[in-house]
Amino acid sequence: MAKGSPRYVCQECGASHRRWMGRCEACGAWNTIIEEPAGESAPRGLGGAKGRPLAFARLDGAPAEAPRWVSGMAEFDRVAGGGLVPATAVLIGGDPGIGKSTLLLQVIARLANSLRCAYISGEEAIDQVRMRAARMGLAQAPVELAAATNLRDVLASLDAPDGPRIVVIDSIQTMYLDTLDSAPGTVTQVRASAQELIRVAKRRGFTVFMVGHVTKEGQIAGPRVLEHMVDTVLYFEGERGHQFRILRAVKNRFGPTDEIGVFEMTDRGLVEVGNPSALFLGEREQAVSGAAVFAGMEGTRPMLVEIQALVAPSAFATPRRAVVGWDSGRLAMVLAVLEARCGLALGGRDVYLNVAGGLRITEPAADLAVAAALVSSLTDRPVPPETVVFGEIGLSGEVRSVNHTDQRLKEAARLGFNQAIMPSRSRRDGAKRAAPANASGLRLCGLGRLYELVTFLEGAESNSVAGGLTRTSRG
Ligand code: TYD
Ligand code: MG
Repeated sequence: MAKGSPRYVCQECGASHRRWMGRCEACGAWNTIIEEPAGESAPRGLGGAKGRPLAFARLDGAPAEAPRWVSGMAEFDRVAGGGLVPATAVLIGGDPGIGKSTLLLQVIARLANSLRCAYISGEEAIDQVRMRAARMGLAQAPVELAAATNLRDVLASLDAPDGPRIVVIDSIQTMYLDTLDSAPGTVTQVRASAQELIRVAKRRGFTVFMVGHVTKEGQIAGPRVLEHMVDTVLYFEGERGHQFRILRAVKNRFGPTDEIGVFEMTDRGLVEVGNPSALFLGEREQAVSGAAVFAGMEGTRPMLVEIQALVAPSAFATPRRAVVGWDSGRLAMVLAVLEARCGLALGGRDVYLNVAGGLRITEPAADLAVAAALVSSLTDRPVPPETVVFGEIGLSGEVRSVNHTDQRLKEAARLGFNQAIMPSRSRRDGAKRAAPANASGLRLCGLGRLYELVTFLEGAESNSVAGGLTRTSRG
């Protein structure tokens, strides 16, 4: 690209183009390309100087066990992989107002008792942060607080051998390098600011948290590029209007990525929820049709949630399908299998599906619970009381085995459930067994095919009137 001519950079994927376009050719996003001044981050080549040869090592050396800084907030530490690792960068994304600043302030207020911690706010004035701290009862925590957006000043305060050990940058989109002409928040600025921060963090051995805003589409705004620069990416999410917040690791070089932490937003900040199942099932009504309790796993932890379905005759030529908390493609698949393999007439009906409590489920093991809620709503027969459901559904109508059966059953038993509808196959041997190993004391109903679920729910004791069930074929 000619030096001096402007570049057009997609704020979504970071691709740079020669001319402005309405749609980025690299990622297909619309209206994301903006002009950025020339000359920035243009490659210069190596020049004449020769590098130092690398000293190669073997794979079998004993890795140094990473030390961890533990905040004592169990829900947070678990998601971070057992505490924070020194000299790493953590990106924490989430919708505006979801509680990112609140969470980080709480975490470093605890860590500040044993380590030097700095909180640099580019969005709020010092007084605003103080007011929040006072409200949460953290005003006495020895956190070092500053309001700044010029990265040169920020780095000058951090780049010292005795600098803070944990630094929060709230948010990375407000930081700017005065050597670049682009506006703060553009890909060029965000990427360069993050790079500088990470470089200093690695050199000085501190952990840097970077708060990143999320766009409507759910991506950390503009810089997807940030996601591969950092060591850990956490998302803080929750449904608006629900007080539950979920911290989810989507990338972690030092821990698992399927862990979640559950919090509740109160007027005194975030409170950890150690027993999420009880919380998510808290408002459950007994014996209503269209609801099934799913025994799920979130990371290493079993979690029971209620899945609610409403199947109603449609007034439209194309029936409505609305899903909250689950994948709509997956719902379409379960509906298709129910129709094709179990002969249920769902085609002309609106279907609404909701995961109660604002949780988002990603596990395929929820298929069977979704199917149970759908069949229950369609036939207006409640799923038997105190029953949990889990299992994956295949396209040919088979009920497939899932992992962690024992943990799911144990959690269900702990919360007072007495029956489980589940795959009859166990994962280990794949062989069909009448009664899978059961240490939980639950009554187990093993299913091999999906139509057995329909039969089972039909036969279940119920005083409601059956309706809407028409069966034409069997899978
Ligand atoms: P905040 O941490 O500022 O969100 P983010 O940094 O992700 O934009 O949280 C703001 C919301 O949280 C705001 O709507 C008020 C609410 N909140 C409480 O309900 N209780 C509290 O103790 C605090 C500090 C905030
Ligand atoms: Mg904030």
